[in-house]
Amino acid sequence: MDFQLEDFKVKTMGEPTVISPLGLSTDIGDGMSNYIADDERVPYKLTLKAGQDSAPKSAFEKAGPRERIFFEPSKIKAAIVTCGGLSPGLNDVIRSVVMVLYHRYKVRDIIGFRYGFRGLNPACGHYPMPLTPEVVDQIHRNGGTILGSSRGNQDKATMVETMVQMGVNILFCLGGDGTLKGAHQLWEVIEERKLNIAVIGIPKTIDNDINFVYKTFGFDTAVGIARDALICAHSEALGAPNGIALVKLMGRDSGFITTHATLACGDVNFALVPEIPFDLHGKGCFMESLEERLQKRGHSLVVVAEGAGQDLVPEKERSYDASGNLKLTDIGLFLQREIEKYFNERNVSINLKYIDPSYLIRSTVANANDSVYCANLAHHAVHAGMAGKTDVMIGLWHGVFTHVPLPLVFTGRKKIHPESPTWLSVLEATGQPATLSNRNSNNNSG
Ligand code: F6P
Repeated sequence: MDFQLEDFKVKTMGEPTVISPLGLSTDIGDGMSNYIADDERVPYKLTLKAGQDSAPKSAFEKAGPRERIFFEPSKIKAAIVTCGGLSPGLNDVIRSVVMVLYHRYKVRDIIGFRYGFRGLNPACGHYPMPLTPEVVDQIHRNGGTILGSSRGNQDKATMVETMVQMGVNILFCLGGDGTLKGAHQLWEVIEERKLNIAVIGIPKTIDNDINFVYKTFGFDTAVGIARDALICAHSEALGAPNGIALVKLMGRDSGFITTHATLACGDVNFALVPEIPFDLHGKGCFMESLEERLQKRGHSLVVVAEGAGQDLVPEKERSYDASGNLKLTDIGLFLQREIEKYFNERNVSINLKYIDPSYLIRSTVANANDSVYCANLAHHAVHAGMAGKTDVMIGLWHGVFTHVPLPLVFTGRKKIHPESPTWLSVLEATGQPATLSNRNSNNNSG
């Protein structure tokens, strides 16, 4: 997809006229932290062909503290909401947003809406929680979110009216694709009513499937726990004749957790992800390849992302969760049955252990890398909100924090490309065939 400069334009609440209380510098080289000028850009494309014009046709606005801000800190109220499934680091982000608002900008009125967007609908009966440095001081030592979370949207006009009634001026929305869409819808109402409320998104999901951000928070930790599960599973596979360990990992539409845990573990023989179709039966397909592997090595470690192979399971009535996600058939249990059947029919005795770490990989406390990342995302989100940026998500692109207009985020979902270096690494690390499918290669593009 081709993008134009216009697609990267960040909306603002209006002219920033308030001098920032941060007291940073504008002189590069004086040894002091600097304000970021509004015209600093981060190119969308990192690589250029020799001789190509180096002026980027598309580029993100660089995130960071502005010398002049839009909101007068002593006069505003900020709110935080955490939506969707849990992800490690939610409490880290809440804590850092509160600390920077309070200590650096001197914002004194901060609240947290409870249980996702439900907390903005009075009919749901969840009262907001006042947030102070004392309240958030220790929260990052625990997984989950002190605010609670929920899936699904609420009536956007009602939610905006709640913010008006409570005098909220900046809303920080922590969530994935659905949450960010909800945040954008809030902005639409705010814009229509010409209200003084900025909306800032912070990209959360262990699936790491949000566009235009190198990594979502929680992903790193989830991969670590998934890797631990794979290491244990490998021991199980090794510990019995013809041992097969089958591990199912979260990852509804994108296989990032599976590919990264596979690479981190190093012992996986088959990694199955939603983006790369595979077949069970036929020459070079999954069962035959698994059988070959057992014949050669006597054990095998298989990891499957929950969204993989959904086209192989028997049709069932389609139903959706509150976020609008299609409810998946349990591919792990399905594969377990199919593998047992296949080897039974051939009178081959196997020892199959099925392991589903399930929610364990996302409800834990953030690891050190994720905590650092959460702090950085939160700080940039506060700077963006105070500067009057709106309808925007904080991104990370080529190692630089950016402002990503929310509509740009919804132009697609981040996925593993079958021709990407990441997938090539997976093939190299697992030794699995380049394709486990007998469909023609044109269908095999993910
Ligand atoms: O938030 C993403 C995720 O963890 C997916 O990997 C998974 O499919 C989904 O949430 C499951 O969450 P829940 O059971 O809360 O709907």
